[in-house]
Amino acid sequence: MSKMYESSGELVNHWYAAGQSKAIKKTKPQLVTIFEKPLVIWRLKDGSLSVMLDRCNHRNAPLSKGRVINDCLVCPYHGWTYNKEGQCVEIPSEGPHSERIPNKKIVSFPVKEAYGLVWVWMGKDKSPNSEPFEMPVMKEQGWHSYYMETKFSNTVTDLVENFMDVPHTVFVHKGWFRDRKQICINAKVERTADSVLVSYDQPNDSIGFSGWLVNPKGLPMKHTDNFYMPNITRVDYIFGENERGFIITSTCTPISPDETMVYTLISYKFGWLTPIAKMGLSAYTRKVINQDVWIMDIHGKNIRKFGETDYHSTQCDFMHLYIESLREHAVKDSKKLSPEPIIKDIEFWV
Ligand code: FES
Ligand SMILES: [Fe+2]
Repeated sequence: MSKMYESSGELVNHWYAAGQSKAIKKTKPQLVTIFEKPLVIWRLKDGSLSVMLDRCNHRNAPLSKGRVINDCLVCPYHGWTYNKEGQCVEIPSEGPHSERIPNKKIVSFPVKEAYGLVWVWMGKDKSPNSEPFEMPVMKEQGWHSYYMETKFSNTVTDLVENFMDVPHTVFVHKGWFRDRKQICINAKVERTADSVLVSYDQPNDSIGFSGWLVNPKGLPMKHTDNFYMPNITRVDYIFGENERGFIITSTCTPISPDETMVYTLISYKFGWLTPIAKMGLSAYTRKVINQDVWIMDIHGKNIRKFGETDYHSTQCDFMHLYIESLREHAVKDSKKLSPEPIIKDIEFWV
């Protein structure tokens, strides 16, 4: 089961976001699918979480449709009852004969809560050797943030490339994010063992729906786009010396080979306008993300239709090639050394 999981190599040995903490209530188990593996997430009275395969040992009924009673998960079919480690502790049809309960646990997964998200360690043979990715500036003064949840019909690789991609903004987000002016953009692209870091030299570029909100004083803009293995992008627009800013951090959770759940943290610091910015900003970011949902959907369908990717790349695609090289290395030859670190200067026009 789950061909995707078996064929993903080292990519499974990471923490993956499985939902927002506030969505996992104490009484209701929840189904989340990661790498095609159906998982049930449920919460105990002390607030801790348990994550296990969504499959009862008796006859495979989905435990996510069951109930949480006395810190145990009860199967909806015949009531087999499991503790947080996945061990069955009661079989109603066996009456008092607890010695007849099989000593076979349901496979469970390490789980953590951090930065408002539930993270599941998907590694099979390796136990966690890292912490979940630190979502930025959540505790820093002057910053506000909110999460958006979006399901995309495309792969993690194609999505992180899209989130790191500048040239599409003047087409897919025309009139919404950036307009085409044919200005030359210079950037430095760096690949490390586990990241791709892009810093743009575009102090006079502008983004967004209204300069007066994002950058009323016309302060110089610092723009960086960073990718962190295996599935995270962080896009920063910082104005002046950290006076104002807008940061988009996306963590991608693969559901199946052509579906991905994305948790996007929108962080913003707009001076005295920050508290009132939220309403307009959430409608705006939803509009822009839905434009990417659309292009990722038709792009993914076409890749699947043609079944091959004979791409032609330009300078502004270097970051994409580097992302592909790191992710492919994790899938195929993780026993070998990771691709060489490299730094390239690029130029392109938007
Ligand atoms: S299938 Fe779960 S108790 Fe029978
Ligand atoms: Fe986009």
